[in-house]
Amino acid sequence: MLAGCSRDAAPAAGGATPTGGEPAAQSTAHFDQHSYAEPGKVRIEDLALELAVDFDNRQLGGSATYTLDWVDPQATQLVLDTRDLTIEKVVGEREDGKWVDLAFDMAQAQPPLGSKLVIEAPQRSERIRVTYRTAPEASGLQWLTPAMTAGGEQPFMFSQSQQIHARSWVPLQDTPQVRFTYTAHVTSPKDVMVLMSADNDPQAERDGDYTFKMPQPIPSYLLAIAAGDLVFEPIGERSGVWAEPSMVAKAAEEFADTEKMIDVTEALYGPYRWERYDMLVLPPSFPYGGMENPRLSFITPTVIVGDKSLVSLIAHELAHSWSGNLVTFATANHGWLNEGVTSYVEGRIVEELYGKERADMETVIARNALREGIGEMSDEAQSLAIRPGVEPAVDAPMGDVAYDKGAWFLSFLEDRFGRAEFDAFLRQYFDHFAFQGIDSNTFIEYASENLLAKYPGKVTRAELEQWIYEPGIPESAPEVASPRLDAVDAARKAWLDGGELPAKSATEAWTTQEWVHFVEGLPDTLSTAQLAALDAAYAFTGTANGEVAQRWYPLAVRSGYGEADAAIAVFLKRVGRRKLIMPTYEALAATPEGLALAEDVLAQARPGYHPITTGSVDAVIAKAKGDDTVATPAD
Ligand code: BES
Ligand code: ZN
Repeated sequence: MLAGCSRDAAPAAGGATPTGGEPAAQSTAHFDQHSYAEPGKVRIEDLALELAVDFDNRQLGGSATYTLDWVDPQATQLVLDTRDLTIEKVVGEREDGKWVDLAFDMAQAQPPLGSKLVIEAPQRSERIRVTYRTAPEASGLQWLTPAMTAGGEQPFMFSQSQQIHARSWVPLQDTPQVRFTYTAHVTSPKDVMVLMSADNDPQAERDGDYTFKMPQPIPSYLLAIAAGDLVFEPIGERSGVWAEPSMVAKAAEEFADTEKMIDVTEALYGPYRWERYDMLVLPPSFPYGGMENPRLSFITPTVIVGDKSLVSLIAHELAHSWSGNLVTFATANHGWLNEGVTSYVEGRIVEELYGKERADMETVIARNALREGIGEMSDEAQSLAIRPGVEPAVDAPMGDVAYDKGAWFLSFLEDRFGRAEFDAFLRQYFDHFAFQGIDSNTFIEYASENLLAKYPGKVTRAELEQWIYEPGIPESAPEVASPRLDAVDAARKAWLDGGELPAKSATEAWTTQEWVHFVEGLPDTLSTAQLAALDAAYAFTGTANGEVAQRWYPLAVRSGYGEADAAIAVFLKRVGRRKLIMPTYEALAATPEGLALAEDVLAQARPGYHPITTGSVDAVIAKAKGDDTVATPAD
């Protein structure tokens, strides 16, 4: 995880390219160091899943049938990515319609890629079927017992495929360069509702037998499934929320502006191409803030705080319907094309719906974190992408740089070309590259032709390349001011200089953004008396707002403020969203007493954490104990 990284997102796919069993080169495709697939030879065009959800064994089992396009006339092998899967059988369809056994070989697993599955297909079958089952510890799935859910009656299961976890629940060409349509037939216990990143039916009968169709082609990291005691509440014509019964009304209220968000984004960037936009509220163990699974964004419940102050997360996941799901990075080394463009679009949606003041506050908070962290990073990590032809060193980090430097780059372009011109450009860009994967160089070429050459004298190609390929924040970066955050700075300073704490009359009007900024700007440590005074005035300890907790608890830990320990333990056990809890674990790991508390809490929290979260926390604790055999996980 990046130092000072404020996102939930971690290294894109992590780890050095393994030695032995190197990812195969792809003739016409971009080299993807995170996949064994050979899309230059053969491509999955459609996937038909037949799956049973088995909660008792924490297992998905069934078959995946691929419809293939044999691109290379010489190719007779289908190479798939898998991780911890048991492959039972592989068959191929002959020209006469008969299905025959195909030979296959599962290579030894190579972290972090998993096992390469090589299927021999001498007849170049148009359809191949793999019968398989997942492991209980599949990295892309979390299985929760009824006791770990809000309702306590039904078990719960959900997937998180980005970046390279789809391969732990479906054998696939797990690279964003391959897009496929899919259908699925899924069976489950009959009281459980199953949803996918597909055509979920709000009126579906809960009978344990579900079918799905996804007619728009998607990359593998957008394949998603969830099962549990889920009910639906509509928000608008084409939007609504799925959640556990006790959460759904609150969620629908918090996210009530979703339909307007879709309208606003369409007005800016063209039609929404995925028909419905629903959200699924997950249990608090969901390791991310949100995940843009098409037609069904997965959302952490930690943004439901009662005042819509954290719904920029919804704007973000919705924005991916254009930037990311429609126009996709060719490999995770171009993460900014997904996350940076999306963060820019998110800002535009927030500005349209909640005003420029709010959007500017969010921008200033994000850029402060970026500035804070970027200085400590390697030159490569400070760049949005590496120049074509340069071998990516290790993993492509997907932290503040991809998100906030990426978004800043687009604001720079908007600033220089003018909003109307730049909006028209982006709209045309989404249209031009719809349903394709592109790299940074393709973006540069397209922008050179459709912006730089069209409006000469405004931005040079060297400036574009500097933003994308050079470290640091270019001097051409336009600044944003936030008078509301300036007022917070003044109030904090007055108190720290010996004056009064900001008065209730002032803080009553503060939103989450102001509170976050207030806490972020406090010194590294405070005295117990100061922390107690803040608690007496604002009750930070025990706050229900995860964004505040994320910043307050590390400060309490660094300051040796033991009064917060009990609340910290409660928070770390309740929430599994990595961005919110990792700073506190990191602060705890810095001292022997803190480490003891962290280990104690982790032991209790572990059964309820997602494998992605457990991996991150284990790595921090192992590092503090000087054990470098536990690798920082991929994501
Ligand atoms: N696609 C990301 C989540 C992701 C990125 C998962 C990389 C795995 C690897 C999602 O859209 C995202 O950016 N989520 C953010 C939301 C925030 C920026 C509003 C998160 O989870 O913090
Ligand atoms: Zn995102």
